[in-house]
Amino acid sequence: MVKICCIGAGYVGGPTMAVMALKCPEIEVSVVDISEPRINAWNSDKLPIYEPGLDDVVKQCRGRNLFFSTDVERHVFESDIVFVSVNTPTKTQGLGAGKAADLTYWESAARMIADVSKSSKIVVEKSTVPVRTAEAIEKILTHNSKGIEFQILSNPEFLAEGTAVKDLYNPDRVLIGGRGNAAGEKAVQALRDVYAHWVPVERIICTNLWSAELSKLAANAFLAQRISSINAMSALCEATGADVTQVAHAVGTDTRIGPKFLNASVGFGGSCFQKDILNLIYICECNGLPEAANYWKQVIKVNDYQKTRFANRVVSSMFNTVSGKKVAILGFAFKKDTGDTRETPAIDVCNRLVADKAKLSIYDPQALEEQIRKDLFMARFDWDHPVSLQQIKAEGMLEQVSVVSDAYEATKDAHGICVLTEWDEFKSLDFERIFESMRKPAFVFDGRNVVDAVKLREIGFIVYSIGKPLDSWLKNMPSVA
Ligand code: NAD
Ligand code: UDX
Repeated sequence: MVKICCIGAGYVGGPTMAVMALKCPEIEVSVVDISEPRINAWNSDKLPIYEPGLDDVVKQCRGRNLFFSTDVERHVFESDIVFVSVNTPTKTQGLGAGKAADLTYWESAARMIADVSKSSKIVVEKSTVPVRTAEAIEKILTHNSKGIEFQILSNPEFLAEGTAVKDLYNPDRVLIGGRGNAAGEKAVQALRDVYAHWVPVERIICTNLWSAELSKLAANAFLAQRISSINAMSALCEATGADVTQVAHAVGTDTRIGPKFLNASVGFGGSCFQKDILNLIYICECNGLPEAANYWKQVIKVNDYQKTRFANRVVSSMFNTVSGKKVAILGFAFKKDTGDTRETPAIDVCNRLVADKAKLSIYDPQALEEQIRKDLFMARFDWDHPVSLQQIKAEGMLEQVSVVSDAYEATKDAHGICVLTEWDEFKSLDFERIFESMRKPAFVFDGRNVVDAVKLREIGFIVYSIGKPLDSWLKNMPSVA
C-alpha cells in the first residue's frame, strides 16, 4: 500500500488530501500539522474550515484511509510520498519585507523530512513558492539525507476557496513539474498515477520544475489582472454612465477573452492573489526586470484604488462625514461560501470608515467575531502573528465596532449599508423591513453588485452599485477619485 503524508492541514492540505483519500481508497493518507487545535478540529464534527461538501468527504474516509495527526515525524517517516502544504506568507521583516515569500515554514518542514527519513521519498511542493524553490529544497534534503534519495516535484494547487471540493473533483488541470532525468520521470509518473484515479490523463500536465512553479504564480497574476482590469473599467463606467455588467458581458463574449473573472467588485481579497503577485514582483526585481515588475505592481495598485474609491464614496455620499453614524457591513469574508477573511477588502474599507469615526455593525454568515476583530487591528500580511484581543482592548478601539449575528440587527438604526461579500442570503433580505428600521436618507453601497438596485430605489434607498450609472444624488456629491 502506498502511503501519503501531507504536512500542513490548512485550506489546501485538508481538502486536497480528503479528496485524494476518497478517490484512492487503497492509499493511506495522513494529514499532519504542528497546530494541535487545528488537528483536533479535523478530527471533530466541526471542521476547522467551512467549505461546501467537505464535511461529507471527510466523514466518508476519516478513520478508513484518511487520518489527521500531530505526530508529524512518524507519518513522514512511514510515507512514500510527502506533500508539503505549509503556509508561505509575505515576509513582514528583513530582506524583501512586504514582497518576498517567507519560506521559514517550508525550510523547517524540509529539514524535518531529511532528519526523520530512513527510506527514499518523493517530496511534493504543494505550497505556492517562488520559482526555483525546488532547487533550494533539494539542497537542504540532499545535504542532510544520510544517503537517502529524494525526488522533488512541484505540484501547485489551483483550487479556489468556497468551491474547493468541486475544483478538486473536477480540476481544469493538474500540473506536475519534475527533473528531466530517469529518476525524476519515475517520480512524476508515480504522482501522475495517483491523480489518474479520478483526473482524465489528458488534463494532467507534466513540465519541468521551474515551469510548474512559475505557472502557479502566473495563473494567479493573470486572474487578478482580469479583476483589476474590470475594476479600472468600473470607475470609468461610473464617470460616463456605462454599466460595467453590460461592458463585461460584451467584452467576455469574445471567445479570445472569455466571460469568467470579469465581475467588478470592491476589490479582490484572499490569501493568494496579493501575496503571489508581490512575490512575482520581487522575483522580477531580483532578476533585473523592473519593467515586468512594474506591470504587475499596477494590478495591486488598482486593487488598492478600488477599495479606497469605495470607502471614499461611502463617506462623500453621506454628507462627507460618517462620524458617529452607524454603518452596517454585510459580509466580511473575502468571498462567499468561506469563513476565510485573509486580505479581505472588508478590512481596508472598515479601517477607512473607522478612521472617519463611523460606528460599524458587522454581520457575516461564516467569519468568526474574534477573527474579524483581530483582522481589523493587525498589521498587513501578519496572519501568523495576530494581535491579541487584550491589545485591541488596550488600543481602545473596540467600541466603534460590533459584530452581530444577523443582517437585520446590523442594519437597525444604520445610516448606510455596505455589501462587501456576495453571500446569496443578501439577495433575499427583506429590504422593506430594513428600510423602515434605518435612519433616512438610507444608503446602500453595493460592493459586489448583488442587490436589486432598481427595487431598492423603489423602496426609497439611495443606491450605489460598483460600475453602474449613478443616482442623481450621488452624481451631485463631491468627486471621489
Ligand atoms: P494555511 O495557513 O491554512 O495552512 C498551513 C498549515 O501548515 C497551518 O495549519 C500550519 O500550522 C501548518 N504548518 C506550518 N509549518 C508546519 C510544519 N513545519 N509542520 C507541520 N505543519 C506546519 O495555508 P493554506 O491556505 O492551506 O495555504 C498553504 C499553501 O498553499 C500556501 O503556499 C498557499 O499559497 C497555497 N495555496 C493556497 C490556496 C488557498 O486557497 N488557500 C490555494 C492554492 C494554493
Ligand atoms: C484564487 C485562485 O482562483 C485559485 O485558482 C488559487 O488556487 C488560489 O487563489 P481564491 O482566492 O480562493 O482562489 O478565490 P477566487 O475565486 O479566485 O477569488 C479571489 C478574490 O477575487 C475574491 O475576493 C473574489 O471576490 C474576487 N473576484 C473574483 C472578483 O472580485 N471578481 C471576479 O470576477 C472574481
